[in-house]
Amino acid sequence: MITKKDIHFSVAIYSSDEELPRGDADLLAAARAVTKLAYAPYSHFLVGAVAALANGKTVTGTNQENASYPVGICAERVLLSSVASQYPGVAVNTIAISYDNIDGQSDHPISPCGICRQSLAEYEERVKQPIRLIMSGMKGEVYILEKAGQLLPLSFSASDLG
Ligand code: THU
Repeated sequence: MITKKDIHFSVAIYSSDEELPRGDADLLAAARAVTKLAYAPYSHFLVGAVAALANGKTVTGTNQENASYPVGICAERVLLSSVASQYPGVAVNTIAISYDNIDGQSDHPISPCGICRQSLAEYEERVKQPIRLIMSGMKGEVYILEKAGQLLPLSFSASDLG
């Protein structure tokens, strides 16, 4: 017998940051601001992320590249590592992600790469709370997703290790 399971999620699309609720607009502004702290001399693609934690703190992360290219780390995983090191066990309510592209445009949202999706999904499981994602470039549309793990359906997780 074959059964089919539909997997879907919704993303809210705002035409600009001006339509966002105040708290989300502030978090996105902070993410846009920290992009300038990224170390991206090879790709010239600077990514900034800011997390609003359940304890009221905010934590930032930026991509950190390396002359040995695969050693580089995305902003999202720099951020999550910092959160987990400074505030272990504390839930992340929302992460705003932005970027600046020195060689191109920054006018549409980007969403986390595959490895970062895996890390985000594990953090949600670890603290048993979904992470909202706010994604946008320096200008233009803003995507809001209510649960980061939705970006990685049928994901491998700790429960699979039995
Ligand atoms: N990058 C991130 O930091 N986050 C993403 O969501 C996508 C890509 C970084 C990795 C690399 O330093 C640069 O952007 C270009 O891929």
